[in-house]
Amino acid sequence: MNNIQTYIKDHKDRFLNELIELLKIPSISADSAYKNDVLNTAEAIKVSLENAGCDMVEICKTEGYPIVYGEKTIDKNLPTVLVYGHYDVQPPDPLDLWDSAPFEPVIKKTAWHPEGAIFARGACDDKGQLYMHVKALEFMISTNQLPCNVKFMIEGEEEVGSANLATFVKNNQDKLKNDVILISDTGMIAQDVPSITTGLRGLSYVEVEVTGPNRDLHSGLYGGAVANPINVLTKMIASLHDENNHITIPGFYDKVEELSKEERAEMAKAPFSLDTYKKALDIHDVYGETGYTTNERNSIRPTLDVNGIWGGYTGEGAKTVIASKAYAKISMRLVPHQDWKEITQLFKTHFESVAPKGVTVKVTPHHGGQGYVTPINSIGYQAASKAYQDTFGKTPIPQRSGGSIPIVSLFEQELKSKTILMGFGLDSDAIHSPNEHFGIFNYLKGIETIPLFYKYFTELSK
Ligand code: BES
Ligand code: MN
Ligand code: MN
Repeated sequence: MNNIQTYIKDHKDRFLNELIELLKIPSISADSAYKNDVLNTAEAIKVSLENAGCDMVEICKTEGYPIVYGEKTIDKNLPTVLVYGHYDVQPPDPLDLWDSAPFEPVIKKTAWHPEGAIFARGACDDKGQLYMHVKALEFMISTNQLPCNVKFMIEGEEEVGSANLATFVKNNQDKLKNDVILISDTGMIAQDVPSITTGLRGLSYVEVEVTGPNRDLHSGLYGGAVANPINVLTKMIASLHDENNHITIPGFYDKVEELSKEERAEMAKAPFSLDTYKKALDIHDVYGETGYTTNERNSIRPTLDVNGIWGGYTGEGAKTVIASKAYAKISMRLVPHQDWKEITQLFKTHFESVAPKGVTVKVTPHHGGQGYVTPINSIGYQAASKAYQDTFGKTPIPQRSGGSIPIVSLFEQELKSKTILMGFGLDSDAIHSPNEHFGIFNYLKGIETIPLFYKYFTELSK
């Protein structure tokens, strides 16, 4: 495309400053104390889309946080790209582990980002990545190079399960009609190893509660004679994996897609250093399901992990007590063909069945979603691949990711179009963790690559 590099060079400081302003608003969807900030962020996104040159932008109310919808139509006969992103962010805690305040963005250099990275909650997930699309649109419209129609749908509830987006999509099929969905909310292998995400894992998230005696008890007077809910819960959780780290829930693997030898060999070609991986996390060894590599364990295999566990006395000093209740939050990452509702039911039935008589167990499902895989022979994938070749000088590697964007499978089901996941983050960008950041190189590369996707997608659609 004409002069995209010059455009980026000329507007680089403004592109950075605008993103920094957006990152200052704490749009934490999980915490109702930030309601006004979340709403203000939607407003800021609306203004940015108007400034980029959309014909129409609206804030669509839902039962939760609103969806910002914008569009630019140039010719009904040309293809339409639907861009999805989310303006909400994860809570920043634990705050004391941040080196700078999560909503006061700063630019610092790191080992992976020698040209600097913006540190702030949401820098990479997903404000920085969604803003690349806004700036790419600004470039295409202002230089008269938008080759097709575009729609934007930016939600504020991705980090809490996208419950209202599902309804919005179902009720607005015509409005959202498109030829391809484009999302930057994933990662790539390394700065010099571009990749396109071809798969996302599904998710089932549950909370469990184990109740023993009707009140907290003296651990001397009653200890040994009644079931201790915390002892029981930890034992039940431990029993969910066997000695090979396979999940023991009956039926859990029944529908798991098994990759062929050839597919696994293809996956293994992606550059990966186990040593660097271990060093980055300060671990002596990796851990996981027998028979699979690290990259397989975190992408094509399902998992079960405790995300939080609590109960009893955790204050200062010691208190001799047997708690009445113990709790845990558990996530299961799923792979294609596993149905999240079915897995949730299998978990519930199994977990209840392994409880000893001395306790009662309650399993409460939270949210979930299906996994996703996208073919690499589609026009969308080919267009993305060509775009990366132009800007990175290399063919991108297709890569399945371990993360989840549950709404993507619903897009395919309701809107009947494929999603292309052009992510520009690095795994080391610490999304959801303290010190989240997004490389300036990645931000600008994204802005450079996206217009080329539009160009090639339009050409290949002819
Ligand atoms: N952007 C992430 C998902 C992601 C990150 C996918 C990196 C692939 C690579 C998204 O915002 C996210 O955090 N999703 C949640 C699920 C959601 C239901 C809370 C997740 O994966 O835990
Ligand atoms: Mn995200
Ligand atoms: Mn996220």
